[in-house]
Order: sequence, then C-alpha cells, then structure tokens
Amino acid sequence: MTPIPDRNLDALVTATKAHRSIYTDPAIFELEMTRIWGQAWIFIGHESQIPNPGDFFTTHINHNIPVVMIRDKEGSVHVLHNRCGHKGAKVVEQRSGNVRGALRCAYHGWSYRFDGSLLKVPNETGYDNTGFDSKAPCYSMQPLAQVDSYRGFVFATLSASAPNLVTWMGGAKDCFDNLCDRAPEGEVEVAGGVLRYEHACNWKFILENLNDTMHPMVTHESVVKAAQDYIATLPPEAVEQRREAEIIPPFGASYEKFEDSGITGFPFGHHYDGGKTSIHADYSVDPEYHAAMVAAYGEARTREIYAFNTHNVLFYPSLTIKCAVQNIRVIRPISVNKFIVETWSFRLKGAPESMLQRTLLYSRLINSAMGMVGPDDLEVYRRTQEGLASPSNEWVEFHRQYGRDKVLEDRIVGGGTSDLDMRTQYGAWKAYMEGSIFEAKVSGVAQ
Ligand code: FES
Ligand SMILES: [Fe+2]
Repeated sequence: MTPIPDRNLDALVTATKAHRSIYTDPAIFELEMTRIWGQAWIFIGHESQIPNPGDFFTTHINHNIPVVMIRDKEGSVHVLHNRCGHKGAKVVEQRSGNVRGALRCAYHGWSYRFDGSLLKVPNETGYDNTGFDSKAPCYSMQPLAQVDSYRGFVFATLSASAPNLVTWMGGAKDCFDNLCDRAPEGEVEVAGGVLRYEHACNWKFILENLNDTMHPMVTHESVVKAAQDYIATLPPEAVEQRREAEIIPPFGASYEKFEDSGITGFPFGHHYDGGKTSIHADYSVDPEYHAAMVAAYGEARTREIYAFNTHNVLFYPSLTIKCAVQNIRVIRPISVNKFIVETWSFRLKGAPESMLQRTLLYSRLINSAMGMVGPDDLEVYRRTQEGLASPSNEWVEFHRQYGRDKVLEDRIVGGGTSDLDMRTQYGAWKAYMEGSIFEAKVSGVAQ
C-alpha cells in the first residue's frame, strides 16, 4: 500500500466534517484511486451490453486502469485488464463492439482467447530455450482479482480480499431486486444509448448530492416553477404532456416531504433515500404496464413492488441507481477536479414501450448535459469546487441530525433531511483510506 505522504488521514475526516483538501489535493485523489477505487467493487457494465460471444465493452476501473468486459463462446462474462501480456499495449481500443475468433494486439500480434488466456505468439520459435513460458499468467490478459454480477449488473474489484459482491452490497441489494422486479419478466436490459457528461469538479460531489435533500427546493427552484406554470396551462385532455411534465415538480417538494422519506445507510458507504415514499412515488402508473405486472406477479406482489419507493441509491463509490425510473448513473473519475457521469437507461422486459420512453425522457430531462435539472447541480458543484480554494474555513460540515441516527442490525436509518448519507460515505471513505474497510463489522457503518 502506498505510504501516506506527510498528512494524517485520520484528521481529514471526522464524524461531522471533512477537510477541504480531500476535494482539492491531487495527492489525496491519487490515494483515493488506490485505496477506494482499488479495493471496492466497481460497477463495470450490464450483461445486456454484450449479448453475443465476442461482444465487448471497455472502460476504466479507476481513473487510469483500462479494463474490458467480454463474453466468451460459452456465454460467460469476463472482466480483463486491457493490457497486452507482451509489452503492455492496450489490446482493445474501441469503446464497444464485437470481435471474432480472438483478441489481437495491434503492436506485435499476440492474440488472446475471450477469457484472456494467451492463444498465439507470432514467430514463436524465437522464444525457444529462452525460459519464456507462454502459459504463465503474466503473459495473458489477466482477469481482475474478483468479478461477479448480480441480476445482470457486472462488478469487479482489484482486491482479492474484498468480501463477495452480495456481502459487500448488504441491504442495498434489495434495490437491484426492486429495479429488476419492476419488469414483468424480472429482467432489465440496456436500451437507448448512453449519456456521457463531464463534470469539472471532484467526483465525491455527486455522491454527496444524491441524498442531499436540503438542496432541491433551492437549486432547482426555477425549473420547478417553470414546469408548474407549464402544467397549469395544459387542458385536461393533454394527458401525455402532463405525464411528461410531472417528472419535474417533485424536485421542489417541501422539507417535510423529504424528511418523511428518510435515509438508510449500510456498511461500505452505500445508502438510499426514500423506501416507503420518494419524489418518484406520485408518478401515474401506465394502465398497460400495470396489467402486465399484475399478470406476472398478481395484484398484491405488484403493489408491494411499487411500494418500495427509493429515490437515489448509492453503491459507493461508482454506481447510483433509480429503481422507480429504471436508469443508473456511473461515476468515472479522471482527476481531482474532473469526472464523467454516464447515464444508462433500461428496458423493463415484458413492459410496454411507453415505459422505456418514460425512462429515456427522464434521463434526458434530468441527467443530460442539456437537461433541466442536472445542469443546476453541476453549477453548484462548480461553485463549491471554486469556493473550497478559499482558506477561510478548512472544513466542510455534515452535522445535520447528528446523534439522532438510529443503528439497526445491518443498517442505520435517519430523517430524510439529515446528513446521515454523508456520515455513511465518509465513514467508509476513512476506512478505505486507512486500509481497515474489510475489517469493518456491520455495526461499523459510518463510524
Ligand atoms: S505489445 Fe502486444 S503484442 Fe507486443
Ligand atoms: Fe439536484
């Protein structure tokens, strides 16, 4: 593990505040990439992105380690280091596609099976009697230390000592179940492309913002007002327009409404707001979709699935999902003051096309660079990044409702306007950075 250069990590984060340098110091960013992104399970992609043998998708597991997710001829999904076993060239350059037969390096033509094992070295006789062993793992495209998927969502970790994926997800796993159970066939698939959106700020701001319910009624006030004014002009027969416009006003919900929705935190920094209710709870239900759900699950189970109503769910540090809306956002850090957010939308298998169209509409309205809500957030992130350059106050605080968090067996719950989410993720931040994260017990949430 990298030694900590002349700074005390323990002093950078307390139970109620974080030092401003964790957002601005490039050396701390580099440590985060090793200690958080190099140990946690990181979301790579969804199996439906690579339905056929030879289909692949490339990304980075942190800011600079390239990986490729690929399906082999037997149908298994692999996540490999995208690094040639010869002299190190990145083997797969394209973002996604299909390769026939084998992966082949563009430099000297070493080729690899889809499980990463070395298939062929050109003019191999030159290695005879040199001690070179073509079967040695170091000459393959190596798999990541652990790779697993849950209901089609593929994660990998660089850490051999991380607990298994299901253990690591803890109670937040219910949210993947809810997302998939909202499909009459119980499965989702990526649809409609991806929105990529560069943020000129530290990657942690978006994680802090997800369950920050003290900001929507302020930051998004103008767009909420505009949407309400627009809805007021709609005639009764404008059902479709109303359904689309109703996505926006819940962002202006009251402090009381957000407080009632609650926040739940889990080990390893995961959390969500909502549960019994959320700002997505009042969206009208498409009758055709409802009929498909009842046919698949029965009325009681369908109501139960709808009733688990979270807003944003964070799988710390790389993935946030919206069960009720069927989209996800993936965080890809680049540097201390730059990251990318990818929004992927999902089709609920067995649901009418209108559900996918609503999801895509939501992604465009809320999460795109040209949307009506996300750019508000980006503006305040930018201002925060700039403001934190000021030495006038060394700390960012998260005291709200501190001392009122209720510790249960496998989770912590608190009021929806509390900073419980901050305490949960910074408890994990500290444990990852100190190297003690996988010793943490369930009761270690947010310690
Ligand atoms: S670097 Fe890939 S074949 Fe030489
Ligand atoms: Fe926001």
